[in-house]
Amino acid sequence: MASPPTPAWPGRFRLDPGRERPGAVAAGVRAVAAPEAGQSPQPAHSAADSPAPNTERLAGGVANRGRVFRIGQTVHRPQAPFPAATHALLKHLDAVGFSSAPRLLATDGDSEVLSWIPGQAAQTPLPSWALGDAALVSVALLLRRFHDAVASFDPTGHHWPDERVPAPYRWPTISHNDIHPGNIIFSDGRAIGLVDFDLAGPGSPIWDLAAAARCWCPLLSDEDVPNSVVDRRFERFALLLDAYGLAGHARVEVAEALLDNQEWTFRIVVDNVMRGHLGFQHYWNSVAGRAERGHRWLTERRQDLIAAVR
Ligand SMILES: Nc1ncnc2c1ncn2[C@@H]1O[C@H](COP(=O)(O)OP(=O)(O)OP(=O)(O)O)[C@@H](O)[C@H]1O
Ligand SMILES: [Mg+2]
Repeated sequence: MASPPTPAWPGRFRLDPGRERPGAVAAGVRAVAAPEAGQSPQPAHSAADSPAPNTERLAGGVANRGRVFRIGQTVHRPQAPFPAATHALLKHLDAVGFSSAPRLLATDGDSEVLSWIPGQAAQTPLPSWALGDAALVSVALLLRRFHDAVASFDPTGHHWPDERVPAPYRWPTISHNDIHPGNIIFSDGRAIGLVDFDLAGPGSPIWDLAAAARCWCPLLSDEDVPNSVVDRRFERFALLLDAYGLAGHARVEVAEALLDNQEWTFRIVVDNVMRGHLGFQHYWNSVAGRAERGHRWLTERRQDLIAAVR
């Protein structure tokens, strides 16, 4: 087998040499080979031996790159590392009427079958249709509804993902913990669906809002932000929190969480790269420079970001 591509290693996210173990796979993390161009779809479920004719491989995944399929009105994907917890959460969301998350329809071996949410996810860098203020506000409203819906869910007694949210942001409530554009489904320019709960676990609304702000304002360095919003990042950060309905000191807490959230997110990426996960390697090769610049920008503009939402 050809060796995986060597990732670029910006200084900020360089691993300790002792932790660099290419080829090793962490518990709960699947080492998946991205399918080659022209390779036929192989749903990761028992139908793999006889894929349905209307099977469509869904683009956009990193952790499960090439292993998420749409079949009719269903999505087939590998189960979360701790499926009992994730599925209890999905069932709760369904039970309390939060219709913006996929419903769990079935499990099949290591796979889960979810309801398909009609629409379109974006990727970073965001396309123009995802960059308007209406889209940003809709992300805030979606998150607010999600956090309200999950507030009545008791996370105790479940085994949640090992990638634990840092203690100051880990409250006795659940957050999604992976709020990036690929996990938000849009329809008619509005965020209507939230998918991929694999990292969901004890966290806080603040943690999800920090991730949303980074991705959607977006809080990146100048050269990585489209002209249409480069001068409006701070204003859009405040707009996101306004639309969510966040008041008081919690707004400053979101601003203060930005850097921690960025580091936590890319630590997960880099750790998986070093474990030989090809999906993360491919992703990291495309975002490493942006992540490094973004970290520098968030550091330099920390006080401005706090002032923008105070
Ligand atoms: N239930 C769903 N309804 C509609 N689209 C979906 C659904 N589940 C997944 N998708 C689409 O498939 C893409 C990949 O799925 P998913 O997010 O599960 O993959 P992943 O590899 O686990 O993602 P990540 O890169 O966030 O780790 C998503 O970006 C989204 O566009
Ligand atoms: Mg995803």
